[in-house]
Amino acid sequence: MALVVFLFVCFLFKDADLRSWKTQLRELQEERNATDMDADLRSLKTQLRELQEKKTGQKSTKSVSKHLSSQPFKMYECATDAEAAKIQRDLVPADSQAQCDEVGICTCPTGSFFDGFHCREFAGSSWEDQFGTLKKKWKEVPAAKEVYGSDGIATDSEGRDAEAEYEGDVPDPGRAFSAQILKKSDQEIEAYWDGMMADDTFTMFHASIFVGKRVIDIGSGLARQTLQFAIHGAHVTFADVVPTNLEVIRRVARAKGVEDRTSYITVSSVNQLGKDLDGKYFDVVTSFGSMHMAPRELNQPEYHLLASHLKTGGKWLQLAYPLQRWIDMQRGDLGTFWCPPKDKQLGVAFSDGWWGGDGCRTPFAEWYEPGKWLKNMKPYSFSMNWCGGIGDPKVHLANEFIWFDFVKLG
Ligand SMILES: C[S@@+](CC[C@H](N)C(=O)[O-])C[C@H]1O[C@@H](n2cnc3c(N)ncnc32)[C@H](O)[C@@H]1O
Repeated sequence: MALVVFLFVCFLFKDADLRSWKTQLRELQEERNATDMDADLRSLKTQLRELQEKKTGQKSTKSVSKHLSSQPFKMYECATDAEAAKIQRDLVPADSQAQCDEVGICTCPTGSFFDGFHCREFAGSSWEDQFGTLKKKWKEVPAAKEVYGSDGIATDSEGRDAEAEYEGDVPDPGRAFSAQILKKSDQEIEAYWDGMMADDTFTMFHASIFVGKRVIDIGSGLARQTLQFAIHGAHVTFADVVPTNLEVIRRVARAKGVEDRTSYITVSSVNQLGKDLDGKYFDVVTSFGSMHMAPRELNQPEYHLLASHLKTGGKWLQLAYPLQRWIDMQRGDLGTFWCPPKDKQLGVAFSDGWWGGDGCRTPFAEWYEPGKWLKNMKPYSFSMNWCGGIGDPKVHLANEFIWFDFVKLG
């Protein structure tokens, strides 16, 4: 009997311990800002996981992130306006009609867009139907677990089973066609999403500071990070050009019991998005890898619309492709790693959208650095909390992503 009572007391203490770590973790997350969230948070997270493992008697199965999250999380400096402007200007040929400014934005005559070097007519291009073109590509979305470590980003896509083909197209590694995912049962779809959801301090930190906030996630894909914001207590409006992407999120949200904290908007035009957002205001806009996939000239009205629905003081958190990544692609030594034939490996334009790593079918990808982003947002005014690159810009082909955290001033 005494032994039973002793074991029961031990069990209670273990639970209390776990709760206290959880409270400390939450308090720490609330206190800290994104630039210094690293070491303590990671060590707390490790301790929390160990306690959870002890309690359940089960080892964590998240081996990829567990391995990588023990590495320092390091961000690299973003380009200054002067650097970005010079690099971009030097690449524009003398016969180009584009006029480049002091932050690296190059402007073309009305009716045309900048492709990194030249001005191209909208008329006769796939961009006459902006959202149709985006929809054609983006039914195939990132579906692998990604982890930020000191060496840039790591994915588990190599270890994953190949995803199913869709209408004769084979998905790129680590990608899946959302219409195929929808063929899974509810239980399978939830387990599938659990296998790809981001599991890192960056996502956890933001999940904790977004509790109770209204977030709009533009270009949700499969919401590998952003659905976690809803799971942890934010209300998230998911907006994407592809309805089947949104349907996957909805089914996972339902399975997790958080559907009432989610809303969904299929974006088919900026006008229609404006109608759907009428009267709605948000504390946070998230755009993780989405708002650089069409010419800046076309995306700008959508950026401005979203800015008009962000409350003053609200946060804009975005993942984009940095200038240096595009510059790396201008070198002719990409080997067979990338999809275009050899003669396309010099002079990689924004319209060779594969340079961003999203596969050969990607119609467009454009670099953003802070000055370009801020000027593109005018007349909306933002200040930058922080900006950081993932992957060392000095290492060829290592400079993968850029993160921005902006605050709306007015
Ligand atoms: C590279 S995926 C990123 C998906 C997701 N955010 C993630 O991190 O896994 C890009 C997503 O953005 C969406 N997208 C691209 N351009 C968009 C736009 N202008 N408006 C809304 N969604 C867009 C695509 O449909 C696609 O789901």
